[in-house]
Amino acid sequence: MESSYLVLLLMLIATLAIIHIVQAQDQQGFISLDCGLSEKEQSPYIETSTGLNFSSDATFIQSGKTGENKANLASEFKKPYRTLRYFPDGKRNCYNLNVEKGLKYLIRTVFIYGNYDGHDTSPVFDLYLGPNKWATIDLGQRRNNTREDIFHIATSNLLKICLVKTGETTPLISAVELRPMPNDSYNTTSGSLRLYSCRYFKETESYLRYSADIYDRIWIPKLKKEWTLISTSSDLKISNSFPPPKDALKNAATPSNASVPLTLEWSPQSLSINTLDYYYLYVHFAEVQDLQANEIREFNLVWNGQHLEGPVTPPKLELLTVFSRLPPRTCNEGKCILQLISTNRSTHPPLINAYELYLAIQFPQSETDERDVNVIKSITASYALSRINWQGDPCFPQQLRWDGLNCTDADMSIPPRITSLNLSSSGLTGTIASAIQNLTQLEKLDLSNNNLTGEVPEFLGNMKSLLVINLSGNNLSGSLPQALQRKGLKLSVQGNPELCVSDSCRKPPKKNIFVPIVASVASAAIIVAMLVIYRLVKKKNSTILQNLTQRPSAPTGNTTFANKKSKRFKYSEVIKMTNNFQSVIGIGGFGKVYRGTVNSSEVAVKVLSQSSSQGYKEFKAEVELLVRVHHTNLVTLVGYCYEGDHLALIYEFLPNGDLQHHLPRRGGRSINNWSIRLRIALESAQGLEYLHIGCSPPMVHRDVKTANILLDENFKAKVADFGLSRSFKSGVECQESTVVAGTLGYLDPEYARSGQLSAKSDVYSFGVVLLEIITNQPVISQASEDAHIRDWVDSKLSRGDIIEIMDPNLGKDYDSNSAWRALEVAMSCADPSSSKRPSMSQVIHELKECIVLENSRVNNIQGLESQANISSSTSVRPMAR
Ligand SMILES: *[C@@H]1O[C@H](CO)[C@@H](O)[C@H](O)[C@H]1NC(C)=O
Ligand SMILES: *[C@@H]1O[C@H](CO)[C@@H](O)[C@H](O)[C@H]1NC(C)=O
Ligand SMILES: *[C@@H]1O[C@H](CO)[C@@H](O)[C@H](O)[C@H]1NC(C)=O
Ligand SMILES: *[C@@H]1O[C@H](CO)[C@@H](O)[C@H](O)[C@H]1NC(C)=O
Ligand SMILES: *[C@@H]1O[C@H](CO)[C@@H](O)[C@H](O)[C@H]1NC(C)=O
Ligand SMILES: *[C@@H]1O[C@H](CO)[C@@H](O)[C@H](O)[C@H]1NC(C)=O
Ligand SMILES: *[C@@H]1O[C@H](CO)[C@@H](O)[C@H](O)[C@H]1NC(C)=O
Ligand SMILES: *[C@@H]1O[C@H](CO)[C@@H](O)[C@H](O)[C@H]1NC(C)=O
Ligand SMILES: *[C@@H]1O[C@H](CO)[C@@H](O)[C@H](O)[C@H]1NC(C)=O
Ligand SMILES: *[C@@H]1O[C@H](CO)[C@@H](O)[C@H](O)[C@H]1NC(C)=O
Repeated sequence: MESSYLVLLLMLIATLAIIHIVQAQDQQGFISLDCGLSEKEQSPYIETSTGLNFSSDATFIQSGKTGENKANLASEFKKPYRTLRYFPDGKRNCYNLNVEKGLKYLIRTVFIYGNYDGHDTSPVFDLYLGPNKWATIDLGQRRNNTREDIFHIATSNLLKICLVKTGETTPLISAVELRPMPNDSYNTTSGSLRLYSCRYFKETESYLRYSADIYDRIWIPKLKKEWTLISTSSDLKISNSFPPPKDALKNAATPSNASVPLTLEWSPQSLSINTLDYYYLYVHFAEVQDLQANEIREFNLVWNGQHLEGPVTPPKLELLTVFSRLPPRTCNEGKCILQLISTNRSTHPPLINAYELYLAIQFPQSETDERDVNVIKSITASYALSRINWQGDPCFPQQLRWDGLNCTDADMSIPPRITSLNLSSSGLTGTIASAIQNLTQLEKLDLSNNNLTGEVPEFLGNMKSLLVINLSGNNLSGSLPQALQRKGLKLSVQGNPELCVSDSCRKPPKKNIFVPIVASVASAAIIVAMLVIYRLVKKKNSTILQNLTQRPSAPTGNTTFANKKSKRFKYSEVIKMTNNFQSVIGIGGFGKVYRGTVNSSEVAVKVLSQSSSQGYKEFKAEVELLVRVHHTNLVTLVGYCYEGDHLALIYEFLPNGDLQHHLPRRGGRSINNWSIRLRIALESAQGLEYLHIGCSPPMVHRDVKTANILLDENFKAKVADFGLSRSFKSGVECQESTVVAGTLGYLDPEYARSGQLSAKSDVYSFGVVLLEIITNQPVISQASEDAHIRDWVDSKLSRGDIIEIMDPNLGKDYDSNSAWRALEVAMSCADPSSSKRPSMSQVIHELKECIVLENSRVNNIQGLESQANISSSTSVRPMAR
């Protein structure tokens, strides 16, 4: 037999065996649980026939009820198996035993249904070791008793033996026994060894186990009528490190008729075993008869008719163990047959002293990462959580995954990690457990609707993996750590009456800068000084701000045309889509803009004046580039037309026109809500930020102005006309220099002077836009001496009254703190020196803070101070849409 091999275990190191014998005789490392035993009255006790120290299982399992068997039991199952624990509640109930990771153990579970419940119905259920199935326990098949023994190497320091309900019947267990084994015993190439049969040969009822067997294997006596027993009273020599008990080896079976083989048969199918499992056979021989010099006992081992090993001659009064790994599917029709057949020269029939037969069993699913298991245990303990199905491995088997958890499950051989923890409405009290920070792969954390108190801990903001945090509906207090402002993190904290979510109490406290400003009656001198200080502080903080907001918003492309390929239209199509240029909706720097329809979607068709000096190739290259730029705050280019003299660009249509028209100086359809104005500013800033750092290659708009900020049906801002400045001069308001493009009043003076273009030029223009949004003053005043809007603000600033600066259309209905902060941002953007201007990312950060301030005021007014919903998506959209 090719795939089998033999190992003779004669020569194992004797000293090792001695060490183990000493340890084992102490019962060192033994765990002997008499399940269902009353903890107080009888535990622990010494079982008299074995000397084993049994104790109650009560401290190793948190669930189940105790019962007592009524029926008589077979002798080997008498004591300590009278009581039992059964599990009417929960699908999976588990014992947790402390073991040493990497050590090999004999793990034994005993199940005896002695009609404890009077129902006379034999239970059927599954047995698991951690995340892996070990066996199906069918007490109907072997009604009086079932025992499962396995040699298994512990994969963690906590062994979880679980009983899993699979039908209507109630799982039960009578005993759990654990015995440490020598590492080199019962080696397998892979997997653990599940016991099928372990026998010795004697005419008796009594089984052998501890202390006859130092490892407490259970040896059941066996005898057939066609066999004759031979035995010795002499001592045996044993140098095997895991030998059968000497008492077992002193007897041997031989066939009564010396001319027939000694035959052993098994039908392992009764174990419902995977037919691909390997068999592991250990046969123990020792000559117990006195043979004369001319006599010989010699035989071969034959497995299902095939030669397995031999010839073998058992040594006199000395143990010889034959070990063989037998491949699967070698047992015909479910029957495995081992024959010992004498050779021709043998003068005696074959003999056998003991044997063990095991099946290799694979446990492929890794246990959940031990660190995560420890954390979840610590969380369970700190909240005194008791959930019936939070037992066993948290992540596997998948159908028994702990409720409220989700885990990675890509590969069985990789320990799963916990990715989601949902403890909402779990009656949690106390503070947010610091152990949570050790769940380093956690993406979602839901602690909503509990009674958690204390502050929101800083560490939540530092957990890089977190995407969603829900802390709403608790009693949290204090303020939100700055770190929770991370982009890409969705944070919900509403329904915490004591929690301050406004910027003024955000950590680290910047509020000392703002406190005097809040008191808007303070003298002008103080305010001007504060503005100066603020800028200084901001400069110092600029790297931090940069880090917080570095990443531009991802392009969402939620418009009708987003992510579609650009389309080149024929001029005839342009005529058709605009219904022969019927409806003019604007006149821009490059030409007239008409309303049109493409595939029933509205579009804006910009017909370009034919002043372009470029050829078609360059134009096309540039348009192709623009078509690829998609951001929710940038107007989408749908297509273009280039046919002879006819050039046109087709954009998505934004029904609410441009921002300029919503800031009329006298009455009109003005947006008179500070919050909406801030949001429009923020969205425009996000569009610009994307152009500056989010798209490739980066772009400078060069013509940022209120007329180029368009508003969709929900008044969401989208920046228009970007990317074209290289091809087209911006027409009427252009500076004399042909290099410099831009609109008077919005044009960066430094760029105008030097011709050196940078993103900071857009920042300047944006500053002017923001000043318009705040003040609604003309960018260049015809009437005033202070011609530019910046100078106008400067002159008002010296008086220190925000009300005089703010657009009176807003009706003083704004948070002055928020207004001051926005004004500071605008003024620093519009600083004549480009080096003093912030980046768009910093601007975005500041505008978000403004919105938070304004929001908390609105909430206070509405008596909803307990309602604050901060999330990266909602905080920037305070208005319901
Ligand atoms: C049995 O084990 C327990 C601990 O499990 C120990 O306290 C007790 O002393 C032991 N009893 C004997 C007789 O060794
Ligand atoms: C058995 O294995 C464990 C873990 O690998 C190791 O700590 C221990 O020393 C080993 N014992 C023997 C006897 O080899
Ligand atoms: C169970 O044990 C009882 C008493 O020892 C015996 O009479 C009965 O035959 C056994 N039943 C089975 C199915 O082994
Ligand atoms: C069992 O495996 C260990 C490690 O793989 C090895 O050192 C030892 O010799 C093996 N023992 C036997 C009996 O094969
Ligand atoms: C022993 O077995 C052989 C072969 O099966 C048979 O011929 C013989 O009669 C048997 N002897 C006895 C005494 O049963
Ligand atoms: C054993 O005897 C059988 C028949 O009696 C014979 O076929 C076989 O060759 C013999 N084997 C040896 C090794 O002599
Ligand atoms: C758990 O996470 C997986 C991805 O790892 C996802 O497919 C699955 O829907 C999640 N299950 C639940 C209940 O959230
Ligand atoms: C947490 O569980 C609750 C109730 O089972 C559910 O409503 C909520 O959506 C879950 N939270 C997350 C983040 O999945
Ligand atoms: C969390 O991890 C730190 C560092 O690894 C460790 O000191 C601490 O004990 C862990 N806490 C818990 C509850 O696991
Ligand atoms: C929450 O905890 C506070 C303080 O311990 C207590 O007064 C309050 O009754 C608790 N509320 C609930 C719903 O348990």
